[in-house]
Amino acid sequence: MYLENLYLANFKNYSEAKIVFSKYINALVGDNGSGKTNLLDAIHFLSMTKSAFIPIDNLCISHDQPFYSIIGRFLQKEKTIEVNNSLLRGKRKKIQIDKNPIDKAADIIGEFPIVLIAPNDHDLISEGGETRRKFFDSIISQLNRSYLINLIDYNHALKQRNRLLKQFSESGKIDHDLLEPYDRILLNLAKEISKVRASFCDIYVKKIMTHYAYLSDGKELISLTYDSQVQHKNFASNFHGSLQKDLILQRTNVGVHKDDYLFEMDGYQLKKFGSQGQQKSFLIALKLAQFDIIREEKGFKPILLMDDIFDKLDDHRIQKLTEMIEHHEFGQVFMTDARPERTRHFLEKLNIEWRIISVDNGTLVTEK
Ligand SMILES: Nc1ncnc2c1ncn2[C@@H]1O[C@H](COP(=O)(O)OP(=O)(O)OP(=O)(O)O)[C@@H](O)[C@H]1O
Ligand SMILES: [Mg+2]
Repeated sequence: MYLENLYLANFKNYSEAKIVFSKYINALVGDNGSGKTNLLDAIHFLSMTKSAFIPIDNLCISHDQPFYSIIGRFLQKEKTIEVNNSLLRGKRKKIQIDKNPIDKAADIIGEFPIVLIAPNDHDLISEGGETRRKFFDSIISQLNRSYLINLIDYNHALKQRNRLLKQFSESGKIDHDLLEPYDRILLNLAKEISKVRASFCDIYVKKIMTHYAYLSDGKELISLTYDSQVQHKNFASNFHGSLQKDLILQRTNVGVHKDDYLFEMDGYQLKKFGSQGQQKSFLIALKLAQFDIIREEKGFKPILLMDDIFDKLDDHRIQKLTEMIEHHEFGQVFMTDARPERTRHFLEKLNIEWRIISVDNGTLVTEK
């Protein structure tokens, strides 16, 4: 599966642009602020229905314009499929596959999978558990639809229960009969969700360790551990026992919405003790493991988007990446760099088809 071409209208700093891609390596080069990351984000929109960086769709419409339109043509199993993602300011986003409207994001997510390696990946280490849960949830949801549905139902029940807690706390009266159905749903779904997360983590940890060992030549040992209150044998009684605290804080304090994934290196917390280079390697290994999981599940390679990749890698790791590309570990790759000469130097050593696309203030020109 790969993206053959892309058309953009009024998308961020692109007023109108059209470009044909290589099915192998596409290197986007241009000055800071020229639109390289925006182009990767447009591909993210086609695959995931939304931006990788900006939570509000309206902000992706070019300033002072009424709409944006992103149209991409994918080649998948020898068929071309056109995906259209467009938005009229203030209206609902429209997504079409071959001109047929898609109602739910879940109907397209996973069809044209991508893996994005970007500078803001560092949030996965530095931010709280919610960032890590979202990352793993997004992978698991693409592979396991019933997990996604359980998660949506869980979050819905959690919202309802929290609303009741607020009501009870304000009125000073608790109606246990109203809480009971939500408690039951949350307890059951928490067990289901936690089971999937735990077994997913078991598979994931092996892959990330392999990639990390490859990138770092086995210098340190890293680990990824699923940490959940649900795995505790007293989970149900802890859940019920937390009611007084829940009422005071007006929210539910026990459940899978409190899960976390621990990143460690040689037994110590990566966030506190890992060097910058070790943290970067960990994040790349994390994303390459995601790549492997998707490839195994789908039976084809996801598109790999690497934003500012050279800024993240030292010469040794660039060499490792070169070897992976040469061994055809990846399919279609998009990479960005603000320094064209560095990219050209890297590509000229590669024994695989590549293309340089220069980006200049929202215009695209293919150089080779
Ligand atoms: N809604 C919008 N309308 C118009 N321009 C926008 C909009 N959103 C972002 N931009 C512009 O897009 C540009 C940033 O583009 P992008 O992040 O793709 O740059 P880049 O080429 O990746 O740069 P860098 O090398 O610094 O990473 C900025 O000039 C910004 O003002
Ligand atoms: Mg950028």
